[in-house]
Amino acid sequence: MRILGIESSCDETGIAIYDDEQGLLAHQLYSQVKVHADYGGVVPELASRDHVRKTIPLIEAAFEQANCGPESLDGIAYTAGPGLVGALLVGTSIGRSLAFGWNIPAVAVHHMEGHLLAPMLEEDKPEFPFVALLVSGGHTMMVKVAGIGEYEILGESVDDAAGEAFDKTAKLLGLDYPGGPLLAKLATQGVPDRFVFPRPMTDRPGLDFSFSGLKTAAANTIKNEGSDEQTKADIAHAFQTAVIDTLAIKCKRALKQTGIKRLVIAGGVSANIELRGKLERMMQGMQGRVYYPRTEFCTDNGAMIAFAGMQRLKAGQVAPLDMKTQPRWPLDNLPPVS
Ligand code: KG4
Ligand code: ZN
Repeated sequence: MRILGIESSCDETGIAIYDDEQGLLAHQLYSQVKVHADYGGVVPELASRDHVRKTIPLIEAAFEQANCGPESLDGIAYTAGPGLVGALLVGTSIGRSLAFGWNIPAVAVHHMEGHLLAPMLEEDKPEFPFVALLVSGGHTMMVKVAGIGEYEILGESVDDAAGEAFDKTAKLLGLDYPGGPLLAKLATQGVPDRFVFPRPMTDRPGLDFSFSGLKTAAANTIKNEGSDEQTKADIAHAFQTAVIDTLAIKCKRALKQTGIKRLVIAGGVSANIELRGKLERMMQGMQGRVYYPRTEFCTDNGAMIAFAGMQRLKAGQVAPLDMKTQPRWPLDNLPPVS
């Protein structure tokens, strides 16, 4: 079976064609970073308009790359939520309409399920059950995954998402949007331990996260210590280390609590090299393993939507004819795929 995937929930237009026997046949991505950079964050209306411009040309490019056409498709998957409502509506209306016109089923995909299953696009994929740490710009979640659609949320952020905290702290350090990867780069120049920030919510039981205090700690340090280039790098280092330590402590706790030895990390922040290294070392010590997607599939992309859509399509879980988006959509509301 073959499916077209459309991702348009935020500031990336991602299109992919996935075949359940041959794997990923095409993958096209357009990032709107330049459109939003001047504003220091995503402007929803500009995002919607850019998705309108890019979606169809990228679908055409994907067909060319896969050397196939609409007649070879068995379905179309689109991100129906969570995300920006206008942006979601673009992918939803294009995906749903093309499926109607081509007389094939459409599948409404949950964006975070896409991230969660992205490591399964790799050859060395995790088996169920596993614990997943989802760390993106909009969400931070610890999930016990017993199977596809069998998600138990063990903890989540009570305020900023991990990626959001990276982006806001990067902005305070004078870095461009999105600042996560730029802050990580600056941190490589930082002197370890010149500053030490708190590891929020690690001194009490539970698996929830809080990151907004770390951003305030960074803001206060910038105010008090000045902001010469070395100080900025030292603050970036202290911030990144505090976030990574906090995430690692919570992962260890979740693995112990569930008795599971497989850890998956996914979402934009899982591209962070230091985070990957820390969790690799931790899992070695626990005789377990960590799995993550290739870097380009950590951030938003169409391949993860095509893959998640394929699992739902094979289970017959297809979308009705009306065009419905779910800007807020709890992950644990999804039906299981048996
Ligand atoms: O998953 P994603 O593309 O979008 C959402 O679903 O939100 O995640 C984007 C987030 C941004 O906040 C970005 O700064 C962060 O992931 N990010 C990183 C890195 N690469 C992307 N944060 C830290 N280190 C990185 N290397
Ligand atoms: Zn995402």
